[in-house]
Amino acid sequence: MSVRALVVDPSAPAAVRLADVPEPVAAAHQVLVDVSQASLNHGDLNDARSGRVPPGAVLGSDAAGVVVQAAADGTGPAVGTRVVALTSGAFAERVAIGVDELAEVPEKLDLARAVGLPVAGVAALRSLRAAGLAPDKRVLITGASGGVGRFAVQLAARAGAHVIASVGSAARGAGLREAGADEVLVGLEGLRQPVDIVVDSVGGPQMVAAWNLLAPGGSLQSVGWTSGEPAVLPPYATVGPARSLTSFVIDSPAGADLATLAALAAEGALTVDIGWQGSWDRFPEAAEALHGRRVPGKAVLEVSRV
Ligand SMILES: NC(=O)c1ccc[n+]([C@@H]2O[C@H](COP(=O)([O-])OP(=O)(O)OC[C@H]3O[C@@H](n4cnc5c(N)ncnc54)[C@H](OP(=O)(O)O)[C@@H]3O)[C@@H](O)[C@H]2O)c1
Repeated sequence: MSVRALVVDPSAPAAVRLADVPEPVAAAHQVLVDVSQASLNHGDLNDARSGRVPPGAVLGSDAAGVVVQAAADGTGPAVGTRVVALTSGAFAERVAIGVDELAEVPEKLDLARAVGLPVAGVAALRSLRAAGLAPDKRVLITGASGGVGRFAVQLAARAGAHVIASVGSAARGAGLREAGADEVLVGLEGLRQPVDIVVDSVGGPQMVAAWNLLAPGGSLQSVGWTSGEPAVLPPYATVGPARSLTSFVIDSPAGADLATLAALAAEGALTVDIGWQGSWDRFPEAAEALHGRRVPGKAVLEVSRV
């Protein structure tokens, strides 16, 4: 038996094509999920093109759907439960998922919104946590118009921080004040006062400028590098009162954090902005829109069955 999936193919448009792959077999601690929605992350585009996910392997990390087989070890959700997960090889009709990689989706939250939470939401939540988010902090979010950025703005604002959202153009700043940003800036123009926390997903010269704005004791979390540009620190930029630049990666199962995010989204305390939505047949179009900075928020792929 086989299922359809989006697999890496360097010769295909956006380096991805639909293909038949063997139906997954669940290990004892895994459930089988019939996936109805998936969400595309910037990292997926990098994974497909860089070889990090090898040719022929299933792409993707964010999936939502319904459990069709419970875990053999008796843990995790029952058959019929709606779940959202952060797992590798997410872009398939059916996926085997570890019970610690998923969360139940509350009734009030639809799967198309839930599926926007995993990679982007967990990165925002964990990077802010690692940086010591607290009510009195000044928090700078770069790439604030994107998936990680929109969640980071909302979570920092919810914690009572002063939130500065940096975007690439005035148009890309739309909706960020409503999301909780106290200031919305194009680049870092006009920002003079120091900040305590930076969640940076842009890298390059903007990361250097953000580092130069970091207050003593501050923390810059290097979450991503969408600019693709090198960062060149001027001499002595790292000499002085202690501040940290920390590399960031999601390196442990995300189920518990996903449950937190899903609960917030269900009660309306966290908005999942869907900036692109369509069948996974249209993957190249979604990839082009995300790469071209035309997706405000998340790109959601619908898993259409034939
Ligand atoms: N370390 C981890 O565990 C982890 C987890 C999640 C994401 N990430 C990384 O974090 C970064 C952001 O991810 P995301 O899902 O939020 O991406 P996204 O939705 O595509 O948003 C990225 C944002 O970066 C900004 N940007 C600035 N310069 C850009 C350029 N040259 N090309 C494209 N975008 C540019 C864009 O904002 P403007 O259009 O306003 O300029 C865009 O909104 C990516 O590098 C991703 O791989 C890492």
